[in-house]
Amino acid sequence: MDFITFLLVLSSILWTCAVYLTSKSSKTRKSARLPPGPNPWPIIGNILELGPKPHQSLAKLSRKHGPLMSLKLGSITTVVVSSPEFAKTILQTHDLACSSRSIPHAIEVLNHDKISMAWIPANSKWRKLRRICKEQMFSVSSLDASQGLRKEKLQKLHEYVSGCCKAGQALNIGEAAFTTTLNLMSATLFSVEFAQFGSDSLQEMKDVVWGVMKYVGMPNLADYFPILKRADPQGIFRQSKFYFERLLEIFDRIIDERLESRASGVSEEKKDMVEALLDFYQRDEISRDDINHLLLNLFVAGTDTTAGTVEWAMTELIRHPKKMSRIRDELRDIIGENGQLQESEISRLPYLHAVVKETFRLHPAAPFLVPHKAEADVEIDCYVVPKNAKILVNVWASGRDPNIWPDADLFMPERFLDHNEIDYRGNDFELIPFGAGRRICPGLPLAHRMVHLMLATLIRDFGWKLGNGQKAEELDMSEKFGLSLQKAIPLNLLPMKP
Ligand code: HEM
Repeated sequence: MDFITFLLVLSSILWTCAVYLTSKSSKTRKSARLPPGPNPWPIIGNILELGPKPHQSLAKLSRKHGPLMSLKLGSITTVVVSSPEFAKTILQTHDLACSSRSIPHAIEVLNHDKISMAWIPANSKWRKLRRICKEQMFSVSSLDASQGLRKEKLQKLHEYVSGCCKAGQALNIGEAAFTTTLNLMSATLFSVEFAQFGSDSLQEMKDVVWGVMKYVGMPNLADYFPILKRADPQGIFRQSKFYFERLLEIFDRIIDERLESRASGVSEEKKDMVEALLDFYQRDEISRDDINHLLLNLFVAGTDTTAGTVEWAMTELIRHPKKMSRIRDELRDIIGENGQLQESEISRLPYLHAVVKETFRLHPAAPFLVPHKAEADVEIDCYVVPKNAKILVNVWASGRDPNIWPDADLFMPERFLDHNEIDYRGNDFELIPFGAGRRICPGLPLAHRMVHLMLATLIRDFGWKLGNGQKAEELDMSEKFGLSLQKAIPLNLLPMKP
């Protein structure tokens, strides 16, 4: 039985309770002074209003009910925030009270929700894991130290595109970006290269990472009606477990090998994240489970988001060839005809940077961030966000709000040349694709470098056109909603000599 059919059956069986429950729920709403929102149906609440693209449906509902809106999703009170002002109130003013996570059932697999940094509450263990990540992986000095690694991976991307160019062969941009990101992540974390361009191992790895993202992001009845968790009516928990186990098995193998070589005293000098984590492990500061689940976090959170952003940027640029040429000119001015872009030179590329900002504005990889949860009742204006409410910050909606952005639906990087001061590092609440406050994405500094570097590699030496006589203005721009927002139809482009 599919999701919608199940809901309809459920709601008609329970319809007899409607009058009683409706009057009860409206009393509750009044007494708790919940933010305004659409009237909920008995039992199912507002679930049917979500549709296949909840970020769009909720943006539309917010236009009617306001930027602080409440809904009932099954039995879960949900507050949707759709303006920079209320995002600031939630993520800055009430940062601590709103910093827990609303846990999807699919995340409870193998206790991931109780161990992993992205899902545990912002407690002392969480602070320790964030500190380790920051110091060992994302600080300026560790990022500078791992530059060589990224150079190598970008060189491979360049060679792959050159090969396609010579052969007159189109390539799937999302997949090429995914391979590059995947290899960069696996090299930084484990000094291992998982994927070759176009190989089966790439397809397998992509399937596993996307499988996790898909089942964690999929609407799940058990999230709306926790009573259904044991029944797992859509099989999402089972599927999620399958993909989690496959990834954790890979990590386990790598850790076993490292521990064995440490024990035998023949360990070769490897400067990667696993080695750093094993040092903490051998000092009894973190457990083996902590390492496994942290690696899974970093891997899953970093790969699809980064690759998806590059694919959206290229999609917008193929529709705006003059803007693509402007980036190429800027790159050639800074780095010349030959040579590779140094990471320290990214800040000298204002137009490329504006293109990246504009891509984040229109196509945020996590349109609701990662759902937050209120730890206590939070008073905002004359309303209350009640304890345990799920909080969705709809950054997709504020990115397209015409009251904030003139010509909001148009791709106009130039707007950020005029307003260069607006950035996505969590201080300008109209543009927070990485979130803000204590839960802000820890991988931001790495993602920032990777997205700029990949775009520079794809654009400086190549011109691009659509295959099969397709016209840019007819390009399908539909989105596929999961934990990250992807392009529904992959972008295939033919590289040429510019
Ligand atoms: C374009 C790329 C990326 C985007 C748009 C992005 C976006 C986000 C967002 C919106 C959040 C949730 C913030 C919140 O809840 O308020 C997040 C959390 C997180 N991201 Fe990223 N991210 C990206 C890349 C990365 C990378 C490269 C890594 C690691 C290598 C990473 C690791 C994480 C982790 C571990 C969390 C959970 C943090 C916590 O809950 O404390 N992300 N990211």
